[in-house]
Amino acid sequence: MTPLKGIQACVFDAYGTLFDVHSAVAQHSTRLVDATAVSTLWRTKQLQYTWLRTLMGRYVEFWQVTGDALDFALETHQVSDSSLREDLMQAYLELSCYPEVPLALKALCQRGIRCAILSNGSPAMLAAAVENAELVDRFSAVISVDPIQIYKPDPRVYQMAVDELKLAPSQIAFQSSNAWDAVGAAAFGFQVVWVNRFGQQPERLGVQGAAELKTLEGLPDLIGG
Ligand code: LAC
Repeated sequence: MTPLKGIQACVFDAYGTLFDVHSAVAQHSTRLVDATAVSTLWRTKQLQYTWLRTLMGRYVEFWQVTGDALDFALETHQVSDSSLREDLMQAYLELSCYPEVPLALKALCQRGIRCAILSNGSPAMLAAAVENAELVDRFSAVISVDPIQIYKPDPRVYQMAVDELKLAPSQIAFQSSNAWDAVGAAAFGFQVVWVNRFGQQPERLGVQGAAELKTLEGLPDLIGG
């Protein structure tokens, strides 16, 4: 794959890209009849609520969105165990990172590439996830949408990374496994690496990223030039 040119910093989406959102339900899978379906619906609703709340101008922080989405998923699957709800929310603060993430970040840091997170997550959620995965030292910035109260893929969110890193969009490689987020970031002007972990089809939204990887393992080689 042709390396990306002129990259000064790598900005990462958090949930689904660095952190495995399904690892929360996986920890408690024996307590659910259909753990996969609950986890999938939880994530789907969580994302829908971010888009809908942004369109309605009714922001609440991602922690509440995540809880509301979980309630929808549990009710749909007729689960009324309140201790399980609490345990799943707690598990969301301690999500596993994907196995290749620590080494990929280390390699990027060794090459002098600054790394940052840009996420819908609320500041406390992101801090907990980064700390739990022992990645605190790897990031020069952890940027939450919370100060502007707008969710991705609004361009004002991607602008936050430009402002924080003081770079042009084209000097930033943006990594996301969420195809719609990758498209939003590419439309904004980042060089986007779509981390297609789930073997999805490309979105038909008129914009494509610069590169596609299956995991973040190949990222350091892609950020060479
Ligand atoms: C995030 C969601 C989109 O971390 O995964 O921003």
